[in-house]
Amino acid sequence: MTAHFEPASTTDRVALRQAFPAQVKALLEGETDAIAAMANTCAAIHTVFGWHWVGFYRVVGNELVLGPFQGPVACTRIGKGRGVCGIAWEQDRVQRVPDVELFPGHIACSALSRSELVIPLHDRHGHVAAVLDLDSVDVDAFTEEDVDMYTAVCRYIEPLL
Ligand code: SME
Repeated sequence: MTAHFEPASTTDRVALRQAFPAQVKALLEGETDAIAAMANTCAAIHTVFGWHWVGFYRVVGNELVLGPFQGPVACTRIGKGRGVCGIAWEQDRVQRVPDVELFPGHIACSALSRSELVIPLHDRHGHVAAVLDLDSVDVDAFTEEDVDMYTAVCRYIEPLL
C-alpha cells in the first residue's frame, strides 16, 4: 500500500477532494479482486471524509446485494428500481439526493441519514454491476464536485468488475 489516509479537517477537504482519486488509484495498484478494492476504497472514503455510511452494493441476479461498507448495519438486499440505489441501477444514472425525506421510495437503513449520493459502476459490457452509496447526516451534504470526484474513484474499480 502506497497511500496514507487520515481524517480531513473541514478546511482541507477541498484540496483533499482534488488529490483523493489519485490516492485511491495508488491504493488499488496491482489489486485484481473487486471485493478487496471496494473494501479498501470505502474504508479510505470513510476515514478521510467521515460520511455516516459508505459502501457498495453489487448487482447479483435481480437484486443489489450489500458489499463492503463502513458504518452502521444496512439492508442487505435492494430490488431494481427500489430506493435511491435501485433507481440509480435501473436508470444507470447518478442520484444526488439533497433531502432523503423528499425522495419518494427512499429506503431508510439509518434514521440518521439526511442526504445521499449513489454512483453506478459498470462492467466491461457497460452494464451496471454495482453502486457506490454515500450517506450523510447533513441535508444537502453532497455537491456536484463530489459527484465528479467519486465518479473518478469508481472508474478505478470498474475494470475489476
Ligand atoms: N438509502 C438507500 C439504501 C441503502 S442505505 O442507505 C445504506 C436507498 O434508498 O437505496
